[in-house]
Amino acid sequence: MRGKFITFEGGEGAGKSTQARLLADRLEALGIATVLTREPGGSAGAEIIRYVLLSGGAKPLGPEVEAVLFAAARNDHVDHTIRPALDRGSWVICDRFLDSTRVYQGVLGKVDPRILRGLERVTIGETMPDLTIILDLPSEIGLQRAAGRRAGAGADRFENEEPEFHERLRTAYQEIAALDPDRCVLIVADGTEDKIADEVWNIVCSRLGAAKIEPAVGAVRA
Ligand code: TYD
Repeated sequence: MRGKFITFEGGEGAGKSTQARLLADRLEALGIATVLTREPGGSAGAEIIRYVLLSGGAKPLGPEVEAVLFAAARNDHVDHTIRPALDRGSWVICDRFLDSTRVYQGVLGKVDPRILRGLERVTIGETMPDLTIILDLPSEIGLQRAAGRRAGAGADRFENEEPEFHERLRTAYQEIAALDPDRCVLIVADGTEDKIADEVWNIVCSRLGAAKIEPAVGAVRA
């Protein structure tokens, strides 16, 4: 049976990577084979494109070209990591996916939504997430967290944008959640890591029935 595909989305420092990892640990503890991955990246070709994008090397080429590069990275990631994992029955948890492009390149970069839909059709096709968890946090808190995490290293291409950019980003994610409630759930991410992880788990169980899945032979229940 095809595995389930869960994506995490949200602004900088909202806690996506931590929550993606905690969820993957929880699923693995139930005996559910899980692949934890991220975008841009997650496959050999996509990791090369990640470097080009996050170094800011493609910024002078404009948001359309950045959108095409994110799409190229996604295509490689879907073909080599995500789809094969789902096909063999693993669950896939991905830190950022198509909504990041819709928000960063679409809403903020003003790339025509028709171009983005075309790119989605080509790169994602049927491999749409079953569930997208959007972590919602005031942008100034998220940026402070992201800066603390970097501990002296420079901000990347998108963290360097103005505060207004990050607040618009938050609103754009809220709109996506409101427009697509079948796929997306928004969580207010200002609680402790454990509290948010429990909330995520409850959503995964109620939407995808994770807790009802029989553990694989030999797996240890948490
Ligand atoms: P990353 O270092 O992975 O950190 P985080 O997810 O914690 O912010 O940064 C990825 C950056 O790339 C982030 O600023 C969002 C941006 N991005 C896009 O602009 N479009 C996309 O399609 C994706 C996947 C990411």
